[in-house]
Amino acid sequence: MLYAAMQAPSAMRQIPWDFVVVEKTEIPTLINCSHGAQSLKECNKVVIFVMRNDLKCPEFLQQDMSCAIDNFMLEGASRGIATIWIGTYPHNERVEFLKKYLKIDDPYIPFAMVGVGYPKDDKLFKFDDTRFDDKRIHIGKW
Ligand SMILES: Cc1cc2nc3c(=O)[nH]c(=O)nc-3n(C[C@H](O)[C@H](O)[C@H](O)COP(=O)(O)O)c2cc1C
Repeated sequence: MLYAAMQAPSAMRQIPWDFVVVEKTEIPTLINCSHGAQSLKECNKVVIFVMRNDLKCPEFLQQDMSCAIDNFMLEGASRGIATIWIGTYPHNERVEFLKKYLKIDDPYIPFAMVGVGYPKDDKLFKFDDTRFDDKRIHIGKW
């Protein structure tokens, strides 16, 4: 899954990502990062996607990081592994919590946490037809 993450495109190939793999024993501490992190309790590992912010195209950093995360999650889905994206950046208190916990300094910023585990059922990996909305598709003009 990290191999897939590293295949992601990035603006001017700036490659802003690093990863911290956190084991299950550390998850009870990690969930103190934010109220939104509670679902990590059910995960087996957490990968922290870390963004380097002193590169060529700072305006595209968030898009680059999101591409890497989505590649990671899609690769997981293709292998029957469930993931959950926990937003960190740009919430300052979450970023500071993780910087302190992981001992990360500038120019590196914890961008997001992705919990990894085994799904309760395979429904997770099927397309949900109710999400398809043809009114969102505009052909040729708005
Ligand atoms: C940028 C971003 C931030 C997210 N942050 C959180 C979060 O803090 N806590 C959480 O439980 N889920 C978080 N999620 C997961 C979404 O809540 C989840 O994708 C959404 O509920 C839809 O669920 P599903 O598509 O996995 O069914 C985040 C997703 C994204 C893309």
